[in-house]
Amino acid sequence: MERKWWHDKVAYQIYPKSFLDTNGDGIGDLRGIISKLDYLKALGIDMIWISPIYKSPFVDQGYDISDYYAIAEEFGTMEEFDELLLEAKRRDMHIVMDLVINHCSDKHEWFQKALADPEGEYAEYFYFVKGKDGKAPSNYRSYFGGSAWESVPGTDKYYLHMFAKEQPDLNWENPVVREKLFEMVNWWLDKGLAGFRIDAIINIKKDLEFKSFEPDGPDGLAMCTKMVESVEGVDKFLAELKRETFEKHDAFTVGEVFNMKEGALETFVGKDGHFSTIFDFGPQILSFGGHGWYDAEPIKFEDWRSVIFKAQKEAEEIGFEANIIENHDEPRGASRFLPEYCQNDMGKKMIATTSILLRGIPFIFQGQEIGMMNCKMESIDEYDDINTKDQYQVALDAGLSEEEAMHACYKHSRDNARTPMQWSDDVQAGFTSGTPWLKVNPNYKEINVKDQEGREGSVLEYYKRLIALRKSEYYKEVFVYGSCVPVYEDKDMIFAYYRQNETQKILIAANYGEEACTLKLESPAKKILLSNFPEPKVQGDEVILASAAVVVIEL
Ligand code: GLC
Ligand code: CA
Repeated sequence: MERKWWHDKVAYQIYPKSFLDTNGDGIGDLRGIISKLDYLKALGIDMIWISPIYKSPFVDQGYDISDYYAIAEEFGTMEEFDELLLEAKRRDMHIVMDLVINHCSDKHEWFQKALADPEGEYAEYFYFVKGKDGKAPSNYRSYFGGSAWESVPGTDKYYLHMFAKEQPDLNWENPVVREKLFEMVNWWLDKGLAGFRIDAIINIKKDLEFKSFEPDGPDGLAMCTKMVESVEGVDKFLAELKRETFEKHDAFTVGEVFNMKEGALETFVGKDGHFSTIFDFGPQILSFGGHGWYDAEPIKFEDWRSVIFKAQKEAEEIGFEANIIENHDEPRGASRFLPEYCQNDMGKKMIATTSILLRGIPFIFQGQEIGMMNCKMESIDEYDDINTKDQYQVALDAGLSEEEAMHACYKHSRDNARTPMQWSDDVQAGFTSGTPWLKVNPNYKEINVKDQEGREGSVLEYYKRLIALRKSEYYKEVFVYGSCVPVYEDKDMIFAYYRQNETQKILIAANYGEEACTLKLESPAKKILLSNFPEPKVQGDEVILASAAVVVIEL
C-alpha cells in the first residue's frame, strides 16, 4: 500500500461551541481553540477536525451554513482563523474543517434568491419540485422528522431538505452548483487547510423521479435513506469533487458515510477512492432503533466486538478507516459501550486502548480524553439539539411516558457529547465566565482537565501514554501498518487482537466482563508495553485480567 502523510496521524475533534469560551458569551470560540493548542500537542494530537465554524443561523449548530466564506461571529474572525492555522502549523499540527455541501442554510444568499424568484436560475441550485395532487412530491421523512419537502411560498412547488427545513439540499445535478462548491473548497485549501471532514455526503445523489416508498412509521412517511440506498450515481459526483479539489492539494479527507452500498468500501477508501478514509460507524449503527431512539436495543458486547473486527478485516486490503468511540452526533462512548460495572477510570482507559490501537486513524472527541460521560437533563427544555427534540416527540407519540422519553434522550441524545468541555472544577467547569449555551455536566467537579493533568493514574495521563506508544519510533510501524488479527473470540467479554507484521507481534487484550479472566499466551511475553492495572500482569504463559483490565504485550 502506498504510504500517505496522514496514515500515522492521531486526530482530535473539536466541537467549537463547547470547547472553550474566552469572551464570556457562553459560546466557545477560536481564541479558545488557539489557547489550547499546546494542551492538544501534549496529548499527542497531530490533526484537529473542527466542526463547522462558518457563518450560520445555528438551527443545526453550524451544519446549516449561510456563508461558506465567512467565520461565524460567535466564533471569531477570519484573522483569528488564520492565526489558528499559523499557530497549528508552528506546532506541526494540521487543521481539518467540516465540509457541509449536501445542503446549506435557508438563509444562504442562493436560497434567498431562489425563494425570491422560484422560476429563476437560483431555484436550479436546489430541488424545487412540483407537488403531486396538492401534496409533497414524495413521502420522504427527513432525518430530523417530518416531511423532507417544504412548500415554496406562492408556488405549487416544494423544496427538498433531507435534514431540517432550514437546510435545503443543494442540487448537485446542476454543474454551476458543483463549480461554485469546488471553487469554495479550493479557496479553503489554498489557505493552508490540511483537508476536510465531509458531512452527510452520501445524500448528494438524488433519485430525480422522487418516487414514494412503503410507509415505515405511523406518520405515513418513509425514511429518506430508502431513496439514498436505491439510487445509483453518487460515485460520479464524488470522483469529480476529488479531482477538482482534494487531489490537487494532497488533502486529507474523512467522509461521514452512512448507507454505503455493500462492497463499496474500495470505491470510497481504496487506492483511487473518493476519500482518504471514512469513519467506521459500525458500533454506532448498533443502536439505531427500528423506529427511533425509544426502541433501540441495548448493545450486546459480542455484536459490538464483531462489527469492529468485521470492519477491520474489510478495510485491511483496501485502505484505512477512521475509528471513534464518540463524536458530536453520538452519546459518550464510555456511557454507551462500557458495561455499568466498567464505567470508571479503569474502564475508560480500557476502551481507549482497544479503540486507539486498532488499525486505522484514531479520532478522539473532545472530553473523551478525560472520560466525560452522558449528561442527565432535568427536562426536555434543557436540551438544545433539534434531533433530540424530534426523538423525544417520536417517543411520546409512540406512547412512552415523559420519563421514559427523557430516558431515551439520556441514552442517545447528541447533546450528551455537546455539553461544555470540563477544564476545571471552577464555576461552569472553567468553560466560560458567563452562562454556557448548554448546561455543564454536573459531574465536572470530579471529571476535569485540571484535576487530571499531571496526576499519575488519571485518564488523561493514560491517553498521553497510549498515544505516545502508538506513535513511538519502535512500535509505530506495527500500530500503523500491521494487520489486526482478532484472538480469544471464544471468550465471553474479552476484546483482544494482535497487531502484527513480519517482525513484530503485539497483543492487546481487555476484559469487559465482570469476572476476572485468565488467557493463555500463544508465545512468551517479551515486554509489557502498557496496562491500566498494577503488577503482576503475566505469570508464566498466562495473563490474568481483572474486570476492566487491559494490557498491551509484545510477544
Ligand atoms: C451530519 C452532522 C450532523 C448534522 C447533519 C446535517 O450528520 O454530523 O451533526 O446534523 O450532518 O448536516
Ligand atoms: Ca465566546
